[in-house]
Amino acid sequence: MERELALELVRVTEFAALACGREMGRGDKIRADQLAVNGMRHVFDTVPIDGTVVIGEGEMDEAPMLYIGEKVGMGMPPKVDVAVDPLEGTNLVSKGLNGAIAVVAVAPEGCLLHAPDMYMEKIAVGPGAAGAIDLTAPVDDNLRRVARFLGKNVEDLTVVILDRDRHRRIIQEVRSTGARIKLITDGDVAPAVAAAVGGTGVDMLLGIGGAPEGVLTAAALKCLGGDMQARLYPENDAELVRARAMGLGDPRQVLRIDDMVQGDDVFFAATGITDGDLLKGVRYDGERAETESVVMRSKTGTVRFIHAIHRLDKKGLVVESEG
Ligand code: FBP
Repeated sequence: MERELALELVRVTEFAALACGREMGRGDKIRADQLAVNGMRHVFDTVPIDGTVVIGEGEMDEAPMLYIGEKVGMGMPPKVDVAVDPLEGTNLVSKGLNGAIAVVAVAPEGCLLHAPDMYMEKIAVGPGAAGAIDLTAPVDDNLRRVARFLGKNVEDLTVVILDRDRHRRIIQEVRSTGARIKLITDGDVAPAVAAAVGGTGVDMLLGIGGAPEGVLTAAALKCLGGDMQARLYPENDAELVRARAMGLGDPRQVLRIDDMVQGDDVFFAATGITDGDLLKGVRYDGERAETESVVMRSKTGTVRFIHAIHRLDKKGLVVESEG
């Protein structure tokens, strides 16, 4: 894969963000998602790859666009696996809350785990704590090791956890160590990436979230030198069968970054839709809009933040004013 692909992927996430950002606070998460999907799909047609969606909007019969198995790109080499989440945090956009992003990861064909749409247990940290985590160990052991690796007191760690009933025990265990917690309502990719980018005030992500989001997170952490462990969390027999169909002998095996993203040539790009710890959201001003994105590549480890000013009239994204 050529390095120029980085900018191409930013164009993809920027367009998805621009296409759905006006839905902020409008209470319609399905419409917001649809706009992001349409926007992302549209730009993929101009990207010089022969891509296959392996993490997408759903199976072919569930999703009209960006479905698993769909071909994207201009159909020219390189042959790549594509993981997308055009709107990561649909509720965040519909309610106008922080942390929604448009996200994509691309790796050579066969290198991304084809994670089914089910839950996954996750623990993720930045490069300073790489090697400190163990999904099978108690929460307080993990926190103490992460703090030691980061040269901090446990009380100074900030752990991000999805605010869900299923996390009551984990939240209690983290609280009992004295560490600080940031409970989020949705969107667990951005906080894990924020922990690895550094300087964001976030040290760690813990808890159960979507498996597709887990693979996207692993792609970013591979680029950033962070660390992640995960384990599928099938909730019924059908999900167990799907997990086995992925070729995992034991569907409950602990997955490391290299199990989720093989090799060392993955690209990850994300654009902020609403404001967050990692990225600013889209700002609209008449025919102009501003976006903030991050793009990275594991081969070189370069991380670029890209502030862009867009002419919406030239992109066919102008909305007629009602006034
Ligand atoms: P959306 O699919 O609505 O964008 O939600 C994304 C998300 O919040 C992920 O970030 C997270 O991994 C997962 O959903 C959590 O699932 P649940 O809402 O079922 O707890």
